[in-house]
Amino acid sequence: MTTAVAPNTSQPQTDFLPLIGTDYVEFYVGNAKQAAHFYQTAFGFEPVAYAGLETGRRDAASYVLQQNKIRLVLTAPLQPHGEIAEHHKKHGDGVRVIALEVDDATSAFEETVRRGARPFLKPTTEADDHGHVVRSGIHIYGDTVHLFVERKNYAGVFLPGYRPFRSLMPTVPTGLKYVDHMVGNVGWNEMNIWVRFYEQVMGFKNILSFDDKDISTEYSALMSKVMSNGNGRIKFPINEPAEGKKKSQVEEYLDFYIGPGVQHIACATDNIIETVSQLRSRGVDFLSVPSTYYDHLLDRVGHIDEELTALRDLGILVDRDDEGYLLQIFTKPVADRPTLFYEIIQRKGARSFGKGNFKALFEAIEREQMLRGTL
Ligand code: FE2
Repeated sequence: MTTAVAPNTSQPQTDFLPLIGTDYVEFYVGNAKQAAHFYQTAFGFEPVAYAGLETGRRDAASYVLQQNKIRLVLTAPLQPHGEIAEHHKKHGDGVRVIALEVDDATSAFEETVRRGARPFLKPTTEADDHGHVVRSGIHIYGDTVHLFVERKNYAGVFLPGYRPFRSLMPTVPTGLKYVDHMVGNVGWNEMNIWVRFYEQVMGFKNILSFDDKDISTEYSALMSKVMSNGNGRIKFPINEPAEGKKKSQVEEYLDFYIGPGVQHIACATDNIIETVSQLRSRGVDFLSVPSTYYDHLLDRVGHIDEELTALRDLGILVDRDDEGYLLQIFTKPVADRPTLFYEIIQRKGARSFGKGNFKALFEAIEREQMLRGTL
């Protein structure tokens, strides 16, 4: 059974954790220099800032890349010891930090810790010639953390300690605009623990739920609940595996990420046909659905503005809800471990997550799992 309640789009006066938006997503990777090249050439992110040996940092190198409102930080360890190296050894390339912009990082820390969050970083001020930034942080699922970033008194390129950085190669953007949602995979029977965490500690609401009947194929299943903050700008679906005849894709993730973590980052575009054409031409690999998916698509979703042939050629999926429709497509994992992948999404009124595509999509993932010997 699916239960849906309308997302709360007005900010309640009691919102104790007002979030301005996603500030950045930081990955710990094995080789930040090469990862930055990949995100620039394949996804069209522009390198804007750097910290490393040349800036006086001894333990790690970080590259900051940006495309419209999406900011990625790629950090690699320079030594075999320390939390960055340990994280990378255990998880492979993956998301360590989901940073949220706030007006008051001290209050965000105090309010969430008072409600039960495990502290990660006490409110800390960093300053340089461009002003100061206050950051604080709490632990979430697995080895992932939320940082609260207060940057209203800062005019520098990213954070104190970083210097502007430009690539020798021009960046050609692909039309990615903002983070629409970020999904976490958690362990067996842990979904509701994290639903309660987001409700109680961060004041989020559960706006959609999918049980294993909604998200199952002949072979595997998962369950998912979508958590949204008060103003609806931040959405974190939480998945857990469910019993099926074979191994759930969430279980495969947990096996290779060695625990819970970020499964996918959904990036919004205003023109998915153009964006996906660009990404494909630059070598980004997408999941494909059988061409029969398109045979009765318009019967299911009704009129859409886009040419069906273009969608079929690119493998873009469509779904409709009460408020409109959405177009979406999923990449294959972007590193060697079958862990993190991206979703490209264009919303035309719809505020849901493509439930009508789940079956086709999960069968596509199972075909990949079959090839990997992990189904
Ligand atoms: Fe998604």
